[in-house]
Amino acid sequence: MTAERTRVAIVGAGPAGLLLSHLLAEAGIESIVLDRRTREEIESTVRAGILEQGTVEILDTVPGSRARTVGHRHDGIEFRFAGEGHRIDFPSHVGRSVWLYPQHEALTDLIAARLAAGQDLRFGVTADRVDDVDTATPRVFCTAADGTRFEIAADFVVGADGSRSVVRTAVTGSHTGGSFREYPFAWFGILCEAPPSSEELIYSNSPDGFALISQRSDTVQRMYFQCDPDTDVDAYSEAQLWDTLQARVPGTTLREGPIFQRDVLRFRSFVAHELRHGRAALVGDAAHTVPPTGAKGMNLAVADVILLNDALQGLLLRGDEAPIDAYAEAALRRIWKAQHFSWWMTSMLHASPDASEFDRLRQLGELRSVVESDAGQRYLAEAYTGWPLQRTL
Ligand code: PHB
Repeated sequence: MTAERTRVAIVGAGPAGLLLSHLLAEAGIESIVLDRRTREEIESTVRAGILEQGTVEILDTVPGSRARTVGHRHDGIEFRFAGEGHRIDFPSHVGRSVWLYPQHEALTDLIAARLAAGQDLRFGVTADRVDDVDTATPRVFCTAADGTRFEIAADFVVGADGSRSVVRTAVTGSHTGGSFREYPFAWFGILCEAPPSSEELIYSNSPDGFALISQRSDTVQRMYFQCDPDTDVDAYSEAQLWDTLQARVPGTTLREGPIFQRDVLRFRSFVAHELRHGRAALVGDAAHTVPPTGAKGMNLAVADVILLNDALQGLLLRGDEAPIDAYAEAALRRIWKAQHFSWWMTSMLHASPDASEFDRLRQLGELRSVVESDAGQRYLAEAYTGWPLQRTL
C-alpha cells in the first residue's frame, strides 16, 4: 500500500472541510481533502439555504464567493399562527441579517476556489478507517474510485464527513456515541418552478401541522410541510401537495408551478460525546445534527471550523497544545445553544401527534410570548442571525 504525507487530512468536502482547507492554506498549512462523492454529486445535492451574517463574512474571504451577489439578504422572517402573521425584523433588534444562499451554490464556489488555489482535493475517495490518533502521525486508510487502496499519514485528521462519519469512530470509540433525540415528524420538501410566493420566509404553525415557505431564486422556490417520518415521497399527487401546503399558510396565495424535486427530511438532534481525541477532531454534521427548523446546520459547521482552524494553527505553527485542548469545550458551548434553539423552534412550531388541547393552546401562548414582546423578538433575532463567532487566536 502506498503512503502519502500531508499536514492535515480532511475527510469530507462539504462546507466544513472545504472552508477549513481554505483557512489553513491562508496560514500556510497544507492539507488533503477527500470525499467519497463525485464533484457533480456534491454540487447538486439540495440542502438548506440560510446563512448567518458571520458565515457570509467568512465566505467573503473565499475568492469568487457569490453569497452576496447571487444570494439575497433577508432582514426578517414571519411567524404565522392562529390566522395572524407577525414579522420579526432582524436589523432593528440586533443590527444583523441573514442571507438566503443555497448550500450547493456555496459548495460550488468553495470547490472552484480551492481547485484554483491548487488544493489537493480528491473526489470518489472513501476513507475506510482512521488509526493512530494517539500518536503524532495519525493515518487515514483510503480506497480510490478504481479500487486502489492507499494511506495518508498526517499531523492531524479532521472528520468533516457528515452524519455517517467514519472519523467519528476514531474520536469517540464508537460510530454512534453521543446524545440523541428523535422527533415524531419530518418535513416533506419540494422544489418547484414558480415565482416567489413571499419575499421573506414564512414559518407557519397551523392546526394541520407546520409549513415553511422558502425561496431559491426568482424562478425556483423551496417549500416544506410537516409529515409523518415514514411518508412515501410518491404518495402525493402534485395537486395534493399544493392543497396541503396551501391549507397550512392561510392568508397567502401560493404561486404554483411544476414540482421537480421532492424529499422527506427526518428530524434528529445529535451531539457526539467527544469532538476530539488525540490528533483527530470532528466538525459539522460529523459532530452534531440539528433539526432544520432553526436553519443552523451549515452555520454551526462554519463556527466549528473557525475554532478548529485557530486551534490547528496553534498546534502546527507554534507547537501550542492549549487551543486544541480547548477546542471541544469552546465548540460545545455554541453547539448546545444551537441545539436548544433548533429544538425550541421545532417544538414551538410543529403539531405533535399526541398533543392535548392544553399543549396546543400553550403553544399559541408561547408563540404570542415571542412575537408580542420586544425581548422575545430580540432573542429570536439574536439566535437566528447567529451569536458572535468566538476566536481563540
Ligand atoms: C431552506 O430554504 O431550505 C430552509 C430555510 C430555513 C430553514 C430550513 C430550510 O429553517
